[in-house]
Amino acid sequence: MSRILTGIQSSGRPHLGNILGAIKPAIDLSKQSDNESFLFIADLHSLTSIKDGPTRREYTRAVAATWLAFGLDTEKNTFWRQSRVAEHTELAWHLSCFTPVPMLNNATSFKEKSERSSTPASTGLFIYPVLQAADILLYDAEIIPVGKDQRQHIEMTRDIASAFNRQYNEDVFVLPEARIDERLMTIPGIDGAKMSKSYNNYIDIFLPENELWKVVKKIKSDSTPLEDPKNPDTDITFQLYSLLASDEQAQELRRLYEGGNYGYGTAKKAFYELILTKFATERERFNYYMVENPDALEAELKAGEEKARAIAERTMTRVREKLGFN
Ligand code: ADP
Ligand code: TRP
Repeated sequence: MSRILTGIQSSGRPHLGNILGAIKPAIDLSKQSDNESFLFIADLHSLTSIKDGPTRREYTRAVAATWLAFGLDTEKNTFWRQSRVAEHTELAWHLSCFTPVPMLNNATSFKEKSERSSTPASTGLFIYPVLQAADILLYDAEIIPVGKDQRQHIEMTRDIASAFNRQYNEDVFVLPEARIDERLMTIPGIDGAKMSKSYNNYIDIFLPENELWKVVKKIKSDSTPLEDPKNPDTDITFQLYSLLASDEQAQELRRLYEGGNYGYGTAKKAFYELILTKFATERERFNYYMVENPDALEAELKAGEEKARAIAERTMTRVREKLGFN
C-alpha cells in the first residue's frame, strides 16, 4: 500500500479549476486498490490569507462538501480538518528548530506572496512550508500529489526530514516524494487567463442555476459576426466545453462553430447545460452537505479526525521520545 497525502487550503469555495486540477485527480488516485489516501483541509494554512472566522468556517465546509460530493470514500481513506489535530502545530514547532532561515528565505512562493502584498509579510507566511512539512511527516506519507508550484515545498520537507534523521542517526521520518502530473492542463477562467480565485475569473459549478448562467454568459468571446465560421481552437467557451464533454459532443460543437450561423451565446448555453447535466449528482450532494444536512458533513469530518489523530499521536510519541520530551 502506498500512502498518499495531500492538503487543500480552505481559502475559497472550490472552482472548476480546483476540481479538475486537484480534487478529481486526488480522488481517482485514492480509488486505486493499492493506495491509501490522507486528504485534509489545510485550514491552518488558510489563516495566512483569511482572518475572518465565519468566512473560514464557510470555506472549510464548502471544501469538505466538494470532496464528498465528488465521491471521496471516507471509509477507505482519511479525511479531516488540519486544525482539529493539534499535533500538526506541535510538530511544526519541533521541525522549525531544524529548518535553516536561509532555506525559508529561498522559498519562491513566500517571495512572490510577500512582494505582492502591501503590508509586511507575517511570520506565519514565512514558516508556511514548515507547517506543510509537519502535515506530511506526521503521517509517514510517501507520495504527495500537488501542482507544480508546490514542488519546492516538498523538497523542503525532504530537507527538513533529512536534517532531523541525521541528527538522531535514525530514520525517524519517511522522505516523501512529490507527484506532479505534467499532463494536467491549466483550466482557463472566463477571461482566458488561468482560472483562479485571485483573478476573480472562476466558475463555481455549485451556484444556483440563474447565478451560474450569469457567470457563464460572461465568458469572453471575440466579435466574429453570427453568420461567419468561428475558430473553436481560440475560443474559451469551446475549450471549457471540451473539458467536460465526450469526444462526440466536442466534435459536434466544433462542426457547428466551423459551419457558421452559430453564435457564441448558443455555445455558452450548451456549456451551461453541460455543467448542469454532467455535475447533476455532485450539485445535489454538495447541497445536501451544505444546506440540507450539515450534521452529516460534520459527522464525516469528526470520524476522519479520530482516524488522523490516532496516527499523529503515534508519530509524536516517537518524536517526543527522540527529543526528550517524554
Ligand atoms: P487558486 O489559484 O484559485 O487560488 P489554489 O492555488 O488554492 O487555487 O489551488 C488549489 C489546487 O487547485 C492546486 O492543486 C492547484 O494546482 C489546482 N488549481 C488551481 N487553479 C487551477 C487551474 N486553473 N487549472 C488546474 N488546476 C488548478
Ligand atoms: N500548500 C498547499 C497548497 O497551497 C496546501 C498544503 C498544505 C499541502 N499542506 C500540505 C499540500 C501538505 C500537500 C501536502 O496547495
